[in-house]
Amino acid sequence: MCGIIGYVGERPALPLILSGLKRLEYRGYDSVGIALLGEEEICVVKNKGRIRDFELDLADLNFPSFCGIGHTRWATHGVPSRENAHPHLDCAGGVALVHNGIIENYRSLRLSLSEDGHVFRSETDSEVIVHLLEGEGTPLERLVKAVGKLKGSFALCILFKEDPGAIYGVRMSSPLILGVGNGENFLASDVPAFLQNTNRVVFIEDGEIVRVTRSGWEIFDFEGRKKSGSSVVTIPWDPVSAEKGGYKHFMLKEIHEQPQVFEDTLAGRVNLLEGRVYFEELQEFPIDFERVVIVACGTACHAGMLGRIFLEKFARIPTEVDYASEFRYRDPLVDSKTLVLSISQSGETADTLAAVSLAREKGCRVVSVCNVLGSSLTRISDWVLYTRAGVEISVASTKAFLCQMAVLLLFAIYLGQHRGCLGKEETRRLLEELVTLPRLIRDILEREEDIHRLARKFYLFRNFLYLGRGVLFPLALEGALKLKEISYIHAEGLSAGEMKHGPIALVEPDLATFVLVGQDVVRSKIIGNMEEIKARQGKIIALCCSGDQEVAEQADEVIYIPRVTECLLPFLAIVPMQLFAYYVALEKGCDIDQPRNLAKSVTVE
Ligand code: F6R
Repeated sequence: MCGIIGYVGERPALPLILSGLKRLEYRGYDSVGIALLGEEEICVVKNKGRIRDFELDLADLNFPSFCGIGHTRWATHGVPSRENAHPHLDCAGGVALVHNGIIENYRSLRLSLSEDGHVFRSETDSEVIVHLLEGEGTPLERLVKAVGKLKGSFALCILFKEDPGAIYGVRMSSPLILGVGNGENFLASDVPAFLQNTNRVVFIEDGEIVRVTRSGWEIFDFEGRKKSGSSVVTIPWDPVSAEKGGYKHFMLKEIHEQPQVFEDTLAGRVNLLEGRVYFEELQEFPIDFERVVIVACGTACHAGMLGRIFLEKFARIPTEVDYASEFRYRDPLVDSKTLVLSISQSGETADTLAAVSLAREKGCRVVSVCNVLGSSLTRISDWVLYTRAGVEISVASTKAFLCQMAVLLLFAIYLGQHRGCLGKEETRRLLEELVTLPRLIRDILEREEDIHRLARKFYLFRNFLYLGRGVLFPLALEGALKLKEISYIHAEGLSAGEMKHGPIALVEPDLATFVLVGQDVVRSKIIGNMEEIKARQGKIIALCCSGDQEVAEQADEVIYIPRVTECLLPFLAIVPMQLFAYYVALEKGCDIDQPRNLAKSVTVE
């Protein structure tokens, strides 16, 4: 996820672009860059690092301009560096472009453009677009030709030297909004980028190209036909709440971003026609290791527990999971035949880094699942599979967890295929179902108010149990962690099978139990657990598949999720649990984005 902005008007463009970029920094902050359109040339300044450092690079810049674009980056292809920072220029320096999104077919485009003599200066997927825009024709004609060749998601802001005084915008599956001012106009990934200047907006739609000047704008479709009828909307947000996209907290915003980041994480890795998973990151990846050891902390470790189930099921490879803090002090029995799989959102967690360093000393090969390109973990790993969750601001991890589960499932399928354990048809069926999940998550999010009502009923309980089995056991642990970290209510996640071995002693009318019920062989056993809890007057919230009447009869409250293949249930089940924790904490008046005693990235022991 990156942030893009464009400005055209009567005021100097640079300060407005910089202040817009600062408000978009939540979308990415590993590199930053701007391009200004002058009468004769385009001036580009860009660098690795944060905006506050970048401003020093601009101190001596003397390039008067009233039209420009800017970009704040969160790397997905190519490490953070000056070359990989946007804007990108074409070979002749006549076109400058910033991009938010992912170009899925960039490898084949790059190959054919290179064969045609285009010289690439970066490792990014985005640079192919600017090279596609070189050549004959008006800017609009060239844009129409270029977008026809792109697969993936893209929001673009572009400057063409031959059209001074205009910015072009393009949107396909990534946000782009036009800000309508007086004698000036803006384009940006998100409203806060220009909200201090105007709150009148036009939401650019997928498949639209917009040409913006200081006095107006024209919208075209991807065939170059002029469109009419886009309406200007006035938005009531104040600048502070707008940074959270109108949501009250970053956590809620990030929960709602999940369908999009899920799609981003799958993009270019799932080939439905061939029934295959591809990871461009896994060059020369061996499949001859004997076992996998997963190391991670907290939420990432819960994703790892699910990863273990996926790896054993689809790749038939013995897998263990360990808290990184335990692994590092246990003198673990690992060697060159062990693949260590580490998982971390930040890539900076001290225990995870120490566990990986130890594994390397013992001769293990290391593959990491990480969200932050260029972070410490990625530099000490042999291979890195990126989750594409974008910047996660809320201390309680939500969207990164979902993307970790997605990458782990794809990795297990990938290994299963390469180790000959998974057939094409079985893979195709699974992948076909997997790509429908973001839509199902959107449906669940639309029923958010039901969860809020439930939270109002339960927020005064002092103790919660979360029960699950199989793929829903790690989810029980994660649901309990979410509740305890943001609402400070004591919550314990358990395998439901363990209830009778002790925890059942806790059941009384004041204890609330969140029971996760799937459809596999253990379903009837969990219904048995529910009966036992009910017999002792404990309160039950059941999360189960639509229409499961038998479960509903045992529960005080029911949350239904769509019926999907058992191993995909966690992707749906997690969303109501995140919402439940969020709304309980909201009812209790807790500081949701910055819970007490916690830090986003635990860089010390
Ligand atoms: C919980 C949470 C933490 C982290 C853990 C590991 O919501 O965010 O439990 O998951 O500290 O952090 P990373 O993934 O950055 O290594």
